[in-house]
Amino acid sequence: MIVEEHVKEYVDSLNPEEDEIIRELLKEAHDNHVPIIRSDVRELLRFLINLKKPMRVLEIGTAIGYSAIVMAKVLPAGATIDTIERNEARYDRAVANVTNASLNDTINIFFGDALDVLDTMDEDSYDLIFMDAAKGQYEEFYKKAMPLLKKDGIMVCDNILQEGDIAWPVEVMTRRDHTVYGRMREFLKSLKSDESLVTSILTIGDGVALVKRK
Ligand SMILES: C[S@@+](CC[C@H](N)C(=O)[O-])C[C@H]1O[C@@H](n2cnc3c(N)ncnc32)[C@H](O)[C@@H]1O
Repeated sequence: MIVEEHVKEYVDSLNPEEDEIIRELLKEAHDNHVPIIRSDVRELLRFLINLKKPMRVLEIGTAIGYSAIVMAKVLPAGATIDTIERNEARYDRAVANVTNASLNDTINIFFGDALDVLDTMDEDSYDLIFMDAAKGQYEEFYKKAMPLLKKDGIMVCDNILQEGDIAWPVEVMTRRDHTVYGRMREFLKSLKSDESLVTSILTIGDGVALVKRK
Protein backbone atom coordinates (compact mmCIF):
# COMPACT_ATOMS: atom_id res chain seq x y z
CA MET A 1 0.00 0.00 0.00
CA ILE A 2 1.50 3.32 -1.06
CA VAL A 3 -1.11 5.63 0.43
CA GLU A 4 -3.10 4.88 3.57
CA GLU A 5 -6.39 3.02 3.05
CA HIS A 6 -8.57 5.94 4.22
CA VAL A 7 -6.88 8.27 1.71
CA LYS A 8 -7.42 5.73 -1.10
CA GLU A 9 -11.10 5.33 -0.08
CA TYR A 10 -11.57 9.09 -0.03
CA VAL A 11 -9.98 9.54 -3.48
CA ASP A 12 -12.07 6.63 -4.82
CA SER A 13 -15.18 8.37 -3.49
CA LEU A 14 -14.27 11.39 -5.64
CA ASN A 15 -13.99 9.17 -8.73
CA PRO A 16 -17.38 7.42 -9.01
CA GLU A 17 -17.80 5.67 -12.36
CA GLU A 18 -20.79 7.02 -14.28
CA ASP A 19 -20.56 4.85 -17.40
CA GLU A 20 -22.79 1.75 -17.26
CA ILE A 21 -20.55 -0.39 -19.51
CA ILE A 22 -17.44 0.50 -17.52
CA ARG A 23 -19.26 -0.29 -14.28
CA GLU A 24 -20.13 -3.75 -15.67
CA LEU A 25 -16.47 -4.31 -16.59
CA LEU A 26 -15.42 -3.30 -13.08
CA LYS A 27 -17.77 -5.96 -11.73
CA GLU A 28 -16.49 -8.61 -14.17
CA ALA A 29 -12.89 -7.85 -13.17
CA HIS A 30 -13.74 -7.89 -9.46
CA ASP A 31 -15.77 -11.14 -9.64
CA ASN A 32 -13.02 -12.92 -11.59
CA HIS A 33 -10.01 -11.49 -9.76
CA VAL A 34 -8.67 -9.81 -12.90
CA PRO A 35 -6.15 -7.08 -12.03
CA ILE A 36 -7.10 -3.74 -13.61
CA ILE A 37 -6.11 -0.11 -13.19
CA ARG A 38 -7.24 1.65 -10.04
CA SER A 39 -9.65 4.57 -10.13
CA ASP A 40 -6.94 7.25 -9.75
CA VAL A 41 -4.95 5.78 -12.67
CA ARG A 42 -8.16 5.61 -14.72
CA GLU A 43 -8.68 9.32 -14.08
CA LEU A 44 -5.04 10.06 -14.93
CA LEU A 45 -5.44 8.28 -18.30
CA ARG A 46 -8.63 10.22 -19.02
CA PHE A 47 -6.86 13.45 -18.10
CA LEU A 48 -3.84 12.72 -20.29
CA ILE A 49 -6.03 11.79 -23.24
CA ASN A 50 -7.98 14.99 -22.83
CA LEU A 51 -4.70 16.94 -22.72
CA LYS A 52 -2.80 15.14 -25.45
CA LYS A 53 -5.65 14.13 -27.79
CA PRO A 54 -3.71 11.11 -29.09
CA MET A 55 -4.73 9.66 -32.45
CA ARG A 56 -2.83 6.39 -31.91
CA VAL A 57 -2.58 4.61 -28.57
CA LEU A 58 -0.67 1.41 -27.77
CA GLU A 59 -1.49 -0.66 -24.70
CA ILE A 60 0.65 -3.54 -23.44
CA GLY A 61 -1.58 -5.75 -21.27
CA THR A 62 -5.29 -5.76 -22.23
CA ALA A 63 -6.69 -8.22 -19.66
CA ILE A 64 -10.48 -8.09 -20.28
CA GLY A 65 -10.39 -4.74 -22.07
CA TYR A 66 -11.29 -2.46 -19.15
CA SER A 67 -8.56 0.20 -19.53
CA ALA A 68 -8.71 0.06 -23.34
CA ILE A 69 -12.46 0.74 -23.22
CA VAL A 70 -11.98 3.52 -20.65
CA MET A 71 -9.46 5.19 -22.98
CA ALA A 72 -11.43 4.54 -26.16
CA LYS A 73 -14.46 6.34 -24.78
CA VAL A 74 -12.56 9.62 -24.39
CA LEU A 75 -10.39 9.52 -27.52
CA PRO A 76 -10.83 12.06 -30.32
CA ALA A 77 -12.99 10.90 -33.25
CA GLY A 78 -11.05 8.61 -35.60
CA ALA A 79 -8.36 7.71 -33.04
CA THR A 80 -7.45 4.06 -32.43
CA ILE A 81 -5.97 1.81 -29.75
CA ASP A 82 -3.78 -1.24 -30.41
CA THR A 83 -3.68 -3.47 -27.34
CA ILE A 84 -1.81 -6.73 -26.69
CA GLU A 85 -2.80 -9.70 -24.50
CA ARG A 86 -1.17 -13.15 -24.26
CA ASN A 87 -3.69 -14.91 -22.02
CA GLU A 88 -6.25 -16.57 -24.28
CA ALA A 89 -9.20 -16.54 -21.85
CA ARG A 90 -8.66 -12.84 -21.13
CA TYR A 91 -8.16 -12.08 -24.82
CA ASP A 92 -11.52 -13.78 -25.56
CA ARG A 93 -13.25 -11.73 -22.86
CA ALA A 94 -11.65 -8.53 -24.18
CA VAL A 95 -12.92 -9.27 -27.71
CA ALA A 96 -16.44 -9.84 -26.34
CA ASN A 97 -16.34 -6.71 -24.19
CA VAL A 98 -15.07 -4.49 -27.01
CA THR A 99 -17.84 -5.82 -29.25
CA ASN A 100 -20.42 -5.24 -26.51
CA ALA A 101 -19.19 -1.65 -26.17
CA SER A 102 -19.46 -1.19 -29.99
CA LEU A 103 -15.78 -0.20 -30.11
CA ASN A 104 -14.53 -2.67 -32.73
CA ASP A 105 -13.59 0.20 -35.04
CA THR A 106 -11.52 1.87 -32.31
CA ILE A 107 -9.81 -1.00 -30.45
CA ASN A 108 -7.62 -3.59 -32.20
CA ILE A 109 -6.72 -6.46 -29.89
CA PHE A 110 -3.57 -8.44 -30.69
CA PHE A 111 -3.25 -11.94 -29.24
CA GLY A 112 0.31 -12.93 -28.34
CA ASP A 113 3.34 -12.08 -26.29
CA ALA A 114 4.01 -8.36 -26.40
CA LEU A 115 7.72 -9.03 -26.83
CA ASP A 116 6.88 -10.60 -30.23
CA VAL A 117 3.97 -8.37 -31.23
CA LEU A 118 5.87 -5.12 -30.55
CA ASP A 119 8.41 -6.15 -33.21
CA THR A 120 5.65 -6.02 -35.83
CA MET A 121 4.53 -2.46 -35.04
CA ASP A 122 5.47 0.72 -36.88
CA GLU A 123 8.21 2.98 -35.52
CA ASP A 124 7.37 6.57 -34.54
CA SER A 125 3.66 5.92 -34.77
CA TYR A 126 2.11 6.15 -31.29
CA ASP A 127 1.17 9.31 -29.38
CA LEU A 128 0.49 7.46 -26.13
CA ILE A 129 1.73 4.11 -24.81
CA PHE A 130 0.24 2.49 -21.73
CA MET A 131 2.38 -0.27 -20.22
CA ASP A 132 0.50 -2.59 -17.87
CA ALA A 133 1.73 -6.18 -18.35
CA ALA A 134 4.26 -8.52 -16.65
CA LYS A 135 6.14 -6.34 -14.18
CA GLY A 136 9.40 -8.29 -14.53
CA GLN A 137 9.48 -7.48 -18.26
CA TYR A 138 9.15 -3.69 -18.16
CA GLU A 139 12.75 -3.08 -19.17
CA GLU A 140 12.29 -5.31 -22.25
CA PHE A 141 8.94 -3.73 -23.13
CA TYR A 142 10.54 -0.30 -22.80
CA LYS A 143 13.39 -1.16 -25.15
CA LYS A 144 10.94 -2.37 -27.79
CA ALA A 145 8.25 0.26 -27.21
CA MET A 146 10.34 3.44 -27.16
CA PRO A 147 11.13 3.41 -30.90
CA LEU A 148 7.36 3.17 -31.51
CA LEU A 149 6.64 6.36 -29.57
CA LYS A 150 6.49 9.62 -31.52
CA LYS A 151 8.50 12.67 -30.51
CA ASP A 152 6.55 14.44 -27.73
CA GLY A 153 4.65 11.19 -27.19
CA ILE A 154 3.74 10.08 -23.67
CA MET A 155 4.23 6.71 -22.01
CA VAL A 156 2.45 5.68 -18.81
CA CYS A 157 3.75 2.64 -16.89
CA ASP A 158 1.55 1.20 -14.12
CA ASN A 159 2.45 -0.74 -10.94
CA ILE A 160 6.03 0.44 -10.83
CA LEU A 161 6.18 0.66 -7.04
CA GLN A 162 4.69 -2.78 -6.33
CA GLU A 163 2.63 -1.71 -3.31
CA GLY A 164 5.68 0.26 -2.16
CA ASP A 165 7.66 -2.96 -1.56
CA ILE A 166 10.41 -2.13 -4.05
CA ALA A 167 11.45 0.73 -1.78
CA TRP A 168 12.53 -1.59 1.08
CA PRO A 169 16.27 -2.22 1.52
CA VAL A 170 17.39 -5.21 -0.58
CA GLU A 171 18.50 -7.13 2.57
CA VAL A 172 14.92 -7.49 3.84
CA MET A 173 13.51 -8.81 0.53
CA THR A 174 12.95 -12.50 -0.24
CA ARG A 175 15.01 -13.93 -3.10
CA ARG A 176 12.00 -13.87 -5.49
CA ASP A 177 11.09 -10.31 -4.56
CA HIS A 178 14.72 -9.37 -4.95
CA THR A 179 14.59 -10.53 -8.60
CA VAL A 180 11.27 -8.89 -9.54
CA TYR A 181 11.87 -5.68 -7.60
CA GLY A 182 15.50 -5.57 -8.72
CA ARG A 183 14.31 -5.64 -12.34
CA MET A 184 11.80 -2.88 -11.69
CA ARG A 185 14.47 -0.77 -10.00
CA GLU A 186 16.74 -1.25 -13.01
CA PHE A 187 13.87 -0.21 -15.28
CA LEU A 188 13.25 2.98 -13.29
CA LYS A 189 16.96 3.75 -13.36
CA SER A 190 16.96 3.28 -17.14
CA LEU A 191 14.03 5.67 -17.54
CA LYS A 192 15.58 8.33 -15.31
CA SER A 193 18.95 8.11 -17.05
CA ASP A 194 17.55 8.09 -20.61
CA GLU A 195 18.33 11.56 -21.91
CA SER A 196 15.78 11.27 -24.70
CA LEU A 197 13.03 11.20 -22.04
CA VAL A 198 11.53 13.28 -19.27
CA THR A 199 10.30 10.96 -16.49
CA SER A 200 8.21 11.64 -13.41
CA ILE A 201 7.61 8.91 -10.80
CA LEU A 202 4.13 9.27 -9.28
CA THR A 203 3.00 7.61 -6.06
CA ILE A 204 -0.59 7.18 -7.22
CA GLY A 205 -2.35 3.85 -7.76
CA ASP A 206 0.37 1.23 -7.38
CA GLY A 207 2.98 3.70 -8.63
CA VAL A 208 3.03 5.21 -12.11
CA ALA A 209 5.95 6.33 -14.28
CA LEU A 210 4.89 9.23 -16.48
CA VAL A 211 7.29 9.56 -19.38
CA LYS A 212 7.55 12.00 -22.27
CA ARG A 213 9.79 11.55 -25.29
CA LYS A 214 11.69 14.80 -25.93
C1 LIG B 1 -2.70 -5.82 -15.03
S1 LIG B 1 -3.36 -6.73 -16.33
C2 LIG B 1 -3.85 -5.50 -17.49
C3 LIG B 1 -5.03 -4.72 -17.01
C4 LIG B 1 -5.61 -3.79 -18.04
N1 LIG B 1 -4.61 -2.87 -18.56
C5 LIG B 1 -6.72 -2.99 -17.39
O1 LIG B 1 -6.42 -2.14 -16.52
O2 LIG B 1 -7.90 -3.21 -17.73
C6 LIG B 1 -1.93 -7.35 -17.13
C7 LIG B 1 -2.24 -8.23 -18.33
O3 LIG B 1 -1.05 -8.32 -19.12
C8 LIG B 1 -0.97 -9.61 -19.66
N2 LIG B 1 0.44 -9.83 -19.97
C9 LIG B 1 1.47 -9.98 -19.09
N3 LIG B 1 2.63 -10.11 -19.74
C10 LIG B 1 2.33 -10.05 -21.07
C11 LIG B 1 3.11 -10.13 -22.24
N4 LIG B 1 4.44 -10.32 -22.19
N5 LIG B 1 2.49 -10.01 -23.43
C12 LIG B 1 1.14 -9.82 -23.50
N6 LIG B 1 0.35 -9.74 -22.42
C13 LIG B 1 0.94 -9.86 -21.22
C14 LIG B 1 -1.53 -10.52 -18.57
O4 LIG B 1 -1.99 -11.74 -19.12
C15 LIG B 1 -2.63 -9.66 -17.96
O5 LIG B 1 -3.89 -9.96 -18.49
